[in-house]
Amino acid sequence: MASKFRINQLRALSSTVFHGIGVRHYYLHANRSPQTLYHFRHFSDASSPPLSPAASSSAPPQNAELQSVNRPEDIVRNASATSSVNQFELAKFSAIADTWWDSEGPFKPLHALNPARVSFIRSTLCRHFRRDPCSIRPFEGLKIIDVGCGGGILSEPLARMGATVTGIDAVDKNIKIARVHADLDPVTSTIEYCCTTAEKLVEQQKEFDAVIASEVIEHVADPSGFCQSLAALTVPNGATVVSTINRSMRSFATAIVAAEYILRWLPRGTHQWSSLLTPEELVLILQRASISVEEMAGFVYNPLTGQWSLSDDTSVNYIAFGTKVSQKTD
Ligand SMILES: C[S@@+](CC[C@H](N)C(=O)[O-])C[C@H]1O[C@@H](n2cnc3c(N)ncnc32)[C@H](O)[C@@H]1O
Repeated sequence: MASKFRINQLRALSSTVFHGIGVRHYYLHANRSPQTLYHFRHFSDASSPPLSPAASSSAPPQNAELQSVNRPEDIVRNASATSSVNQFELAKFSAIADTWWDSEGPFKPLHALNPARVSFIRSTLCRHFRRDPCSIRPFEGLKIIDVGCGGGILSEPLARMGATVTGIDAVDKNIKIARVHADLDPVTSTIEYCCTTAEKLVEQQKEFDAVIASEVIEHVADPSGFCQSLAALTVPNGATVVSTINRSMRSFATAIVAAEYILRWLPRGTHQWSSLLTPEELVLILQRASISVEEMAGFVYNPLTGQWSLSDDTSVNYIAFGTKVSQKTD
């Protein structure tokens, strides 16, 4: 499917490059709908302040551990036919929920990724909502939801930047851990955590200025339906941010073979390569959900420093920022 898009040729034909400010505008053109131009710029913001870095090595549990724990009572109930919930995926997270805040544990990669993704979110949301990125609390007054928040690794810095944060996750154990950890600090204790799904909040007609789903879409049952729910939760002209792993040969070699089998950063089986989305596929399904992707960045890992940074290289991990348009465009 990804080959349909022939991005590189199209980039060569139609990119407008602004080297001066380090931002490139690319036009991605899908064969399926020749009239449609996908337009987003690759993110670059070297000046964003780094946030607290995290951790080094880990000793993850083995796959058998993951598969032995599948307690439906830990997981959101009454999943409907259109639910994004994949019970097998949720069982994996339930099994290791106690380790969310162990920066040496299975969630070490998310702790390490946090400064870079927070930097992207801070920059893109500040640009979109016309906030001062140098302010200590640039998100003051913004309602943000962190969908699939896990233990709250991302929700907490969003609250520290002043946002009114709601964190939801389909695994009740995750929400309990997130609650306990957030209550350690009066600023993060304002986060509202709830064990539920995006689609259930859509039924309740909830809306947010910004909707964030970081490293979640690769674990849901129906990525297109999930994006429809993210869009429905976003106010018109609000922002939607999605980060995930590309379905590329490099991601197979690094995010799966190296991270799960060689370095053992993650429990084996954490990611199913065939469930991953390429950036072009994500742009397309977001577009169909009325979210126009405007900026995208890759994350690259430096094995010498153990840190992730933002890059134009979206071949493994990437993050997309989009805005909700009032009319659907197919
Ligand atoms: C890889 S973790 C990411 C956690 C968090 N977003 C972060 O990046 O720190 C994926 C999370 O998504 C949750 N999840 C998976 N499917 C979900 C769904 N359909 N609705 C809500 N949460 C879901 C899992 O329980 C898990 O906590």
